[in-house]
Formats: sequence, structure tokens, C-alpha cells
Amino acid sequence: TGGARKPLALSSPGPTNLLLEQHAKFVVKYSENKDDYEFVMSEFLRINGVYWSLTALDLMYAKEELHKEEIMSFVLQCYDSESGGFSPAHRHDPHILYTLSAIQVAATFDAMDRLDQESVVRYIQKLQNKDGSFSGDIMGEVDNRFSFCAVSCLALLKRLDAIDVDNAVNYICSCLNFDGGFGSQAGSESHAGLIFCCIGVLSITQQLHRIDADIIGHWLCQRQLPCGGLNGRPEKLPDVCYSWWVLSSLAMIGRLHWIDSKDISQFILASQDEETGGISDRPGDLPDPFHTLFGLAGISLLGNTKLKTVNPVFCMAQEVLDRMGIKPQLLE
Ligand code: FPP
Ligand code: ZN
Repeated sequence: TGGARKPLALSSPGPTNLLLEQHAKFVVKYSENKDDYEFVMSEFLRINGVYWSLTALDLMYAKEELHKEEIMSFVLQCYDSESGGFSPAHRHDPHILYTLSAIQVAATFDAMDRLDQESVVRYIQKLQNKDGSFSGDIMGEVDNRFSFCAVSCLALLKRLDAIDVDNAVNYICSCLNFDGGFGSQAGSESHAGLIFCCIGVLSITQQLHRIDADIIGHWLCQRQLPCGGLNGRPEKLPDVCYSWWVLSSLAMIGRLHWIDSKDISQFILASQDEETGGISDRPGDLPDPFHTLFGLAGISLLGNTKLKTVNPVFCMAQEVLDRMGIKPQLLE
């Protein structure tokens, strides 16, 4: 954005109120700017972008601002009938990351019946490896974020029986580090985003007793910096999206009250753009739909009643999961 970066302590408070109308306008405008330079540049992320935008609007009670039929037809264009997976955009390669976004969009729109569910289940099933881990696509890269995507997709499809759940959970547990956290694979450094993914798998599979919630809760709380924002690993900058990965993990293990919610709310609110709407990664940066969703979801988790309640595992409105009868485990 040019100019000097703002210091990490919040020198000026920035916006202190939640700018809901501006955020709804920002997200809708982004979804309409199809010829925009930035939209073309981010084409690769389009189906994820649809999930971020739709969920952000849903949390703001403004989902109707998006055209359901248009979006569902885009989602179905991303479907690769040969593999059963979804691509980020028409004629790109399918991947479990995009498959989760497609299913989340269909679930939010109450349009699961539009998916070829049997083929999607088979696609996910084939990505599980012998040791229980998951590859993201046919290239074979293994990462705990793919385990999370696979398990959440199957939970939304109500087909967890299609994989070896015990083995999937055992693989996750084999990645547990001495500091109580998880990384992307066995032996990788603990990272808040991956902790979210691993606790998420354990929550969906009702296996949260397999971790020490006090140790991991402590590590997560240490992510809060003097400015109120949270980072994803020691020594990193604070980032609004990490407030989501950390807060949602704490919520799953029943330790959300361990963190200073006033300071983190203030950091997220200060990352709002008063002029254009939208939320950025930290105060003074340019907003985008990704940080707008995770900023709003974090604020919802902290109990703001102007937003719908968010589910900490699926990052979707809780009412969607209630309607579908899906109940991941949350510790008291
Ligand atoms: C940081 O990634 C974030 C993560 C590792 C979490 C990724 C989570 C998913 C793919 C699941 C998403 C699903 C829902 C429901 C929200 P990064 O590569 O940006 O890490 P860095 O900040 O260290 O570069
Ligand atoms: Zn971020």
C-alpha cells in the first residue's frame, strides 16, 4: 500500500464500531467486479472466494445480496465429473481445498441435493493414504489441512463412514508436538492454522479427549501480542485471519475465556477500512474478502450479537449446521 507500516502497538484506535453496511457492500462489489484486474489475478482462488464472500454475508444477515442460482451454477461448473472433485474455477485442476469450499457453499444455500454426492465421496475416499493421512489431490502432497478438508466435507455429506476415521485420527495424533501444538505433518513446527485443522478433525470425530487442552490452550494464548492482535507462530506479525484460527481452536477446547477478548476485538475493528468497507490483515493494510470473513467470524465468536453465531469448526453460520443436524464435539 506504500508508505510506512503502522507500528504494532495500536497508536491510533482506528474504527471502533463494526461497520456492517460497508462490509456487505465491499463483499458484494468484489463478487461483481468480474472484469476487474484484481479479480482476474485471483481467479485461481475463485471458489474459495465465493465461500468467503457468501459466509461473510450470511454472518451479516445479508446472504440474499448474492444470486443463489448464479453462484450454484458457477459451483457446478467447477465440478470435475471425471474425478468427483471440485476445481477453483472451470477447467482448472480439482483439489480437496476447493471441494470443501464447494460443499460449504452448497450447504449454506441448502442446495446439497444439487451435488453428485456419491462421486464426491469417492473422490475424497481415494485421497486417504495407508497411514491415515490425506493427500490434497493426485499430486500426492500430504498435509493436515487436507485431513481437515476431507473430514469436514464428509461430515457435511454425512458420509464419515466412507473413510478409515480411526486411522485419520491416529495420523493427526502422531503429529502432536512437545509444545502441545500441531504442524502440517509429523515433526513439523506448531502453527495456529494447522492446530485449527487438527483440533477440527478431533472435534468432528468426537476425539477431543486425545489432546491436552491446557497445554495447547496455553500455546494458543501466547499468540496474543501487546497490540491485541494474534500471530500464528512465535515471532510472526499479528494477522486478523490468525485471530480466527486461534479463537476458534480455543472455542473448540472450551478455553475462549482464557484470552483478552476486548483487545482482540479492538485489533479486528481497527483493521476495518472505513472508506471502502472490508477488513484487512492488520490496521492500515488493504481489505480483502478472506480477512473480512475471518475478522467477522472472530467477532461473532467473541459474542457480538449483530452477527449470526458462527460455528468454530466449519466457519459457517451455526444455524446451517443446526438445520443439517451436524454437531461437532466442543469441550466445556
Ligand atoms: C495459514 O496458512 C492457515 C492455515 C494453515 C489453515 C488452513 C485451513 C484450511 C485450509 C481449512 C479452511 C477451512 C475453513 C472451514 C476455514 P498459510 O499457508 O497462509 O500460513 P502462513 O501464514 O504461515 O504463511
Ligand atoms: Zn492473514
